[in-house]
Amino acid sequence: MQQAPVVTGWRCAVCATPVAISEVFSWRCPNSSESDRHHVLELENAIAPLRSSGDANPFVAFQRYLAWDAFAATLSLDFEARTKIIRDLDDAVSVIAGTGFRTTPFARHDGLSDELGFNQQGGVWIKDETHNVAGSQKARHLFTELLHLITVEIVGRAPWESPTQRPALAIASCGNAAIAASTLARAVNWPIQVFVPHYADEATLKILNSLDANVVRCPRVATDPAGDPCVFRFREAIDQGCIPFGVQGPENAWCLDGGRTIGWEMAVVAEDLPGSLISRMFVQAGGGAFAACAASGFFAGATKPKLHAVQTQGCAPLARAFEIAQSTGGARNAGARWSQCMWPWETTPVSLADGILDDETYDWIGGCNAMADSGGYPVVATEQQVLESYALAHRVTNIDVSPTGSAGLAGLLAIREEVADDERVIVIFSGVRRQ
Ligand SMILES: Cc1ncc(COP(=O)(O)O)c(C=O)c1O
Ligand SMILES: [Zn+2]
Repeated sequence: MQQAPVVTGWRCAVCATPVAISEVFSWRCPNSSESDRHHVLELENAIAPLRSSGDANPFVAFQRYLAWDAFAATLSLDFEARTKIIRDLDDAVSVIAGTGFRTTPFARHDGLSDELGFNQQGGVWIKDETHNVAGSQKARHLFTELLHLITVEIVGRAPWESPTQRPALAIASCGNAAIAASTLARAVNWPIQVFVPHYADEATLKILNSLDANVVRCPRVATDPAGDPCVFRFREAIDQGCIPFGVQGPENAWCLDGGRTIGWEMAVVAEDLPGSLISRMFVQAGGGAFAACAASGFFAGATKPKLHAVQTQGCAPLARAFEIAQSTGGARNAGARWSQCMWPWETTPVSLADGILDDETYDWIGGCNAMADSGGYPVVATEQQVLESYALAHRVTNIDVSPTGSAGLAGLLAIREEVADDERVIVIFSGVRRQ
């Protein structure tokens, strides 16, 4: 049976410009420019009811809800042809990553729930991303960007004549996103430039080199404005023809499509739980795409737990933005107030949870909308709570999570007194520890 696509189009959350879902390479709002990056496309869609097809691969299980699926349908590819594109690409990824995309574990953790004083009705549910492709949630966001690119090639709409003439992909990241992007790029032999900070750690650089990524170190230069030098060098590469392949919605909105799979996976499990509903969801926020997508995916289901975006005292621009947005007209739909609400964190960010130190929360609008819609709010954890959550995760679970990956738990520690013992809450162990 042919069903109507669920996603109908994009619209800029700042200037309201619509972009058709059929548009090729629709990475950014047409009004986004070199001097004004304060635009981000968001999806217009209606998912009801949310149902998994039962496939182990989330991109197949929830295929109908993907913007990519609606996009590919406009290129005259039928449903089966679209499923085959996902499966073929997933096979290629698994050759490099050792695994393709598979629904990741999500269950109540009795030890952690007891440790934190929850009773039998309540508890802590852990979503474990540490065995996802490339060891974190990042590859989910990037897979829909890659699906878009590969599909355009398949239907003969790419402006280059053959794969050997592909422009390089580009990403600004020093950690999991860079590893995920380089893994996916390597799976299809697409060249990639990775812009990393000058302090990037050796373990990550080694992995990037083994994946044949072209690593470019980016020291801060005196002529740069405030903000991340890696992002500036990345944007220069885009201006020179590279393809944005990162996890920041304003640079490539297609990352906001696949990122929702994690929320969908949790929502269908949560719906089937006997007893009370999940009441809160703690999601560590750096660039913010993760929190925005996990929430918008989950909210497509029957319930809306309060979203708590978790940041550290060393770097909390999203918490600052939420507060300003609330007092200047509301935290929902604050996109037009971008300059007033969001600007780079002034001091050099430091934390053991170094994956959430983005000095700007690029996807702050999606995060603020989700917190406002669900009655949630940002939580700023102390560095002590970041350390404690990491130690606690390793003491009571056997998940080899990184300090960034357990930082959502630091948010729960920070507001544990506000959470009733019979509440059910989610933390996402989003990334594996790397030595
Ligand atoms: C393991 C892990 N969790 C969470 C995040 C935060 O994701 P986002 O930057 O989309 O907010 C990152 C980002 O680097 C990460 O590596
Ligand atoms: Zn716009």
